[in-house]
Amino acid sequence: MNIRLFQTEELVARALADRVASAVRQRPSIVLGLPTGRTPIATYAELRRLRVEQGLSFARASTFNLDEFVGIEPTHPGSFRYFMERHLFEGIDLPPERIHFLDGMAPDLDAECERYERNIANAGGIDLQLLGIGANGHIGFNEPGEELMANTHHAALHDGTRRDNAAQFGGDPTQVPQEALSMGMGTILKAAALILVATGERKARCVERMVRGPVTTRLPASFLQMHRAVEVFLDRPAASLLSV
Ligand code: PGA
Repeated sequence: MNIRLFQTEELVARALADRVASAVRQRPSIVLGLPTGRTPIATYAELRRLRVEQGLSFARASTFNLDEFVGIEPTHPGSFRYFMERHLFEGIDLPPERIHFLDGMAPDLDAECERYERNIANAGGIDLQLLGIGANGHIGFNEPGEELMANTHHAALHDGTRRDNAAQFGGDPTQVPQEALSMGMGTILKAAALILVATGERKARCVERMVRGPVTTRLPASFLQMHRAVEVFLDRPAASLLSV
């Protein structure tokens, strides 16, 4: 893993946005995989700034988001689609038809997962997949457990993950959907290049296990060790248990 260390969260966001911007300039028809969560918010703000200040264009790019809750509309403030609109899509020139999302309201969720896998394949696969990491080592909604699913699938959420997402549901974890659709670890590992971003001391332990620990379904992020092109963007607190 190529670990890139920065002093602060702000510097992580700036460097990651520059990294994405140069990938988009180099290959305007790039297919990006995108995460939600608190961590990428600053990076998305930087990308919007690059759009305004430097004319960075996403007009030919496509995006696939990692995951979405089951049973809420894309207009619900807790949905990941709503998050992406507010933090990124509204501020860049990505054509709406090139924004790909799992539909958590689909009547047949298995068919919806299959559709997503086909759409990714039809787009030629994901060129650059950005990822966050949960404090428990989850990636997307691939939660730690006895087994992992390779393909896009229907997942039950852990209580901790529901608590982490409660803010957009009136602060009440019981209002957070119990299920979500998520790319699988295989879907993620098929991307040509991966960039994982983690900031803050809360992530130090899972980052250390991801980088140094055994590959285990108990820490889904550890599977990234098996990919040949992984960059990890960290601030000092997230890297505090690594000797880099
Ligand atoms: P966070 O979430 O950025 O809000 O910490 C990351 C994740 O759970 O994947």
